[in-house]
Amino acid sequence: MKTEVITTMISLVFLVHFAITISPNAQPSWLFSLMSLSLAVVAVIVPLVVTTTCHARKNTDATTTIPGPRGWPLVGSLLVVSGPLMHRRLAALADAHSARRLMSLTLGATPVVISSHPETARDILSGAAFVDRPPKAAARELMFCRAIGFAPTGEYWRRLRRITGAGMLSPRRMAMLRGLRCRVADSMIQRVADQMERSGEVAMRALLQRASLESMVGSVLGLEGDAVCEELGEMVREGYELVGMFNLEDHYYKTSWGPLMDLWGVRPMCRELAAMVRGYFGKIIQERRLAGDCHERADLLSYMLSLPEEEKLEDSDVIAVLWEMIFRGVDVVAILLEWAMARMSLHPDIQSKAQEEMDAAVGVRRRRAITDSDVPNLAFLQWILKETLRMHPPGPLLSWARLAVQDARVGKHVVPAGTTAMVNMWAISHDEAIWGDPWVFRPERFAAAAAGEEVSVLGSDLRLAPFGSGRRVCPGRMMGLATAQLWLGRLLQEYRWLPPPANKPVELAECLRLSMEMKTPLVCRAVPRRRGGRPPAAA
Ligand code: HEM
Repeated sequence: MKTEVITTMISLVFLVHFAITISPNAQPSWLFSLMSLSLAVVAVIVPLVVTTTCHARKNTDATTTIPGPRGWPLVGSLLVVSGPLMHRRLAALADAHSARRLMSLTLGATPVVISSHPETARDILSGAAFVDRPPKAAARELMFCRAIGFAPTGEYWRRLRRITGAGMLSPRRMAMLRGLRCRVADSMIQRVADQMERSGEVAMRALLQRASLESMVGSVLGLEGDAVCEELGEMVREGYELVGMFNLEDHYYKTSWGPLMDLWGVRPMCRELAAMVRGYFGKIIQERRLAGDCHERADLLSYMLSLPEEEKLEDSDVIAVLWEMIFRGVDVVAILLEWAMARMSLHPDIQSKAQEEMDAAVGVRRRRAITDSDVPNLAFLQWILKETLRMHPPGPLLSWARLAVQDARVGKHVVPAGTTAMVNMWAISHDEAIWGDPWVFRPERFAAAAAGEEVSVLGSDLRLAPFGSGRRVCPGRMMGLATAQLWLGRLLQEYRWLPPPANKPVELAECLRLSMEMKTPLVCRAVPRRRGGRPPAAA
């Protein structure tokens, strides 16, 4: 800190000197001006270097034994790893440094450790130290620090997890929302028919996002209809862009320069959106209070408003939680299903197997639509989703990193408090030593496991933990999985899916923003599997 203060003072002297030199009254020689300009440039750069190195060194001193790239002054390895394929770059870097178990690097001025191995991943995700999230400017401005995702681990965060569990994400509550998920599936299937009739192809991304949005708006707010979906859809889309934007401030938050690094104005844009979200949700809360029918409804908002007085949250906190649930729930489920459908149109043999399994379970002639209660008997369908989560995890770096609140042991290393920790789940789920032929899409690989050793994707098995693990594991994982299983089943039950016309091939290129999307949105063709072409309503 002392060094930082001294360099900043010296720099200020140089800057003042430069300001005097260029003032209208001064008439310096060109050589003098040049010298002064050079000193001014040095004055800006030196404190940056000193501050970043000071913060990076604190970590390096404690983690010198952890292998990893040294990085550049000022930026560390930020420029080397950032970008839409960050998970792949980090995996390659870990291999290059023989650092799969734990790699240490600096991103900007932030010390980071990364695990690409199930054992060290468990130390990070399930240990007592990495229980907070590192600060992220967009998340703070968009109120997520008052919601589950970015609230520090503590009494408030535990209370939110309890409330959202009991009010929406528990098996009992999910069962109450079963009808909604089936209705949304019906209208999705109807839209497929309409799009095929209109254009001979189906734009899958828009279709799945709309379904996901309808389901979340119904579950969280108990509302349905085009108007609310369009308005909220627009806000979610904008929030998703902002949270996914590269913001230098997030990598320099430990330095006094941090707030100056928001070069693209992410904070003000987030503030504007947050004001809109507050206004919109605030109005819905008032209307629900006036309606006075909270006890008769099954949505999260009604549940939160009917909590006993001692459990009640401030309205601003209710808004933060509702907004986060919709925000988190919409994109991941749609992205997961888009990848699954891409795989289905590329692997007709796998698709047919899933369809045969469903036909055998619910009959072919007077077939009824599958429901949640059929899913436990549809092992192959479940394996398809597991294999999709393995090859295309929506959060390859588990979406949001963890922050050590105290020194912690990871493998054989000690990681100091204040270090950011990431788990490269994509690298683990593509590790040849764990998965045999990791680049092949083969749902049957889970059959061997089913015979004895089950691979659970819910967080207990770190070979495949796409929902994270430990205390901060995804609380929406059961709902996300149940929704994806039901909708994938319905889409396959009603239609045979083909790749799009030759000019729009299915491309499996990835693009990591907040989640890992398909770089080129998926377009498919759908051929009805039942005579007459029109699907039935769910039972
Ligand atoms: C396919 C679906 C989903 C995937 C792949 C997914 C993935 C994840 C991951 C990787 C994390 C970080 C976990 C960790 O740090 O260990 C997370 C956290 C979270 N997810 Fe999900 N998620 C999904 C669906 C949902 C849904 C449907 C909701 C809510 C309706 C939701 C709400 C949350 C919340 C609130 C957190 C923050 C938890 C905390 O910090 O305590 N997610 N999710």
